Amino acid sequence: MAFAHQTDAPQPTKEDQQWILPKLPETAGNPLSDASVSLGKTLFFDPRLSRNGNMSCASCHNPSLGWSDGLKTARGDHGKLLPRATPTITNVAYNKILMWDGRHPSLESQALGPMESKDEMNTDFDSVLGFLRSNSGYLDMFKKAYPDEDINKFTMAKAIANFQRTVVVNDTPFDRWLAGDKGALSRSQWRGFQLFKGKAMCVTCHSAPNFTDSGFHNIGVSQFGGSADDVGRYLIRKVKVNKGAFKTPPLRDIANTAPYFRDGSSGTLIEVVDHYARGGDDKTNLSPNMFPIELNELEKQDLVEFLYGLSAAPRSFDVPRLP
Ligand code: HEC
Ligand code: HEC
Repeated sequence: MAFAHQTDAPQPTKEDQQWILPKLPETAGNPLSDASVSLGKTLFFDPRLSRNGNMSCASCHNPSLGWSDGLKTARGDHGKLLPRATPTITNVAYNKILMWDGRHPSLESQALGPMESKDEMNTDFDSVLGFLRSNSGYLDMFKKAYPDEDINKFTMAKAIANFQRTVVVNDTPFDRWLAGDKGALSRSQWRGFQLFKGKAMCVTCHSAPNFTDSGFHNIGVSQFGGSADDVGRYLIRKVKVNKGAFKTPPLRDIANTAPYFRDGSSGTLIEVVDHYARGGDDKTNLSPNMFPIELNELEKQDLVEFLYGLSAAPRSFDVPRLP
């Protein structure tokens, strides 16, 4: 009996409560409503928004692949290899800044990007808006979602943004443990959490509650990824510290979104942990918070187990019927 007890994690401390994911942040000018979410969900899955009728947001942000694509870097129109990995949209509502280089401040501004991009959906807005205004199903949905607004780019973007806000993972073993379910986290996962906050210093960047500081760091990924010429945040703000710095990604549901890093250069979570244990690979302009960490095999395994504890069990998702 005493033995069985030891496999449970100890109770969370008072300080651990800071990791509880709060309620969704308010969105100025675009309140969440069932009607806008339902419209946004339909648009998100509709390939008719793309010029060639073959690509939707969900082509790359696929619910059965953790809302990503399982690829090292994204594939665009005609299979064109794009330079960066597709991030998940899970918990994106909590992100204060979007994209690997932070070039979009809001989900509303982001949503038009892939439609406008020649390499992605390459949307012909005149024809798509004509289609949406003449389709009775869409007409009805827009009317319910935004009764006082036209059907235009911006109402499309608002609806898509609101749908994405509802893609939330907050019931992982870690979350259940925080909520008081002692058995939810294994002893190994709990030890991994102590390392994450302690010796391994992951919290310096992956901070509470959403495992990101919304900051940009060069963690020395590029040497083997072939992405050394991607300067990241420096494209947007030309300050030396930003060279090769990318946004800290949140980590809930991480076990479902391999491969890892902005170039997909780590295939598994143990490879990720090894990357940090080595203190990164490319040392050019490396963050001062990156340094070799002495971790034995058990400690590495505990960290990986903790990352699994941040992930939800795969679940089914009802893809909307297109009108
Ligand atoms: C061809 C694949 C592809 C398609 C199609 C696509 N995306 Fe993405 N998405 C990406 C990639 C790659 C990035 C990261 C690019 C970067 O940071 O430079 C990204 C980034 C994002 C982000 C930022 C996430 C974050 O945490 O910073 C959001 C939100 C997003 N996409 C939503 C959408 C929406 C909405 C659509 C449809 C209108 C869409 N995407 C279509 C590949 C795609
Ligand atoms: C100096 C800041 C910093 C520290 C410390 C740090 N990370 Fe990261 N982490 C980042 C950034 C920035 C990225 C994305 C970088 C890139 O792809 O170029 C990242 C990416 C990741 C990813 C891949 C996420 C994805 O969606 O591809 C995982 C997993 C991860 N970190 C886990 C950890 C763990 C575990 C630790 C501690 C051992 C740690 N991080 C320490 C900043 C940091």
